[in-house]
Amino acid sequence: MNVRCGLRPGVFELHVNGQFREVALRSSDTLLHALRDLGLTGAKPGCENGDCGACTVLLDGVPVHACLTLGVEAVEHSVTTAEGLVDSPIRQAFIDNWAIQCGYCTPGFVVVCHALVTQCKEPADEQIKEWLQPNLCRCTGYQEIKDAVYAVLRHSAQAMQGGDQKSAQ
Ligand code: FES
Ligand code: FES
Repeated sequence: MNVRCGLRPGVFELHVNGQFREVALRSSDTLLHALRDLGLTGAKPGCENGDCGACTVLLDGVPVHACLTLGVEAVEHSVTTAEGLVDSPIRQAFIDNWAIQCGYCTPGFVVVCHALVTQCKEPADEQIKEWLQPNLCRCTGYQEIKDAVYAVLRHSAQAMQGGDQKSAQ
């Protein structure tokens, strides 16, 4: 990735959702606030303490709490927010399975579940529980979220089987 740091004093380039964006960053600014300064409000300031997961984004594909990550730590890495997942299968699965709940917790869940279905093709129930653990829904609406995860996993398993059958013909 061709990143230019320190374009002007205090201004950095972040690679967010496939685009380079310039943002003014002080050394103490969190990634959460840098993203919101860029107009990306999907990551939510919930607890700002690492407890709720409402601020979850992907850093090089790995879920992180943006409230506990400094903006400058994201320079030279790729950031994905909920806005970058509008066309993702997991977002559609959230809609289809009634897993879209309040606007505060849902974006973080979509982000973490996208990473889960991308990285684990056949997770056990326990593994899904572990992945969801850093994200809190105060209303305990977890079943629909798990249903959305299973729907995407089922769909990719079927697509893979279809591909195998075609290549065997
Ligand atoms: S706002 Fe980051 S974990 Fe709650
Ligand atoms: S639906 Fe968002 S906290 Fe429960």
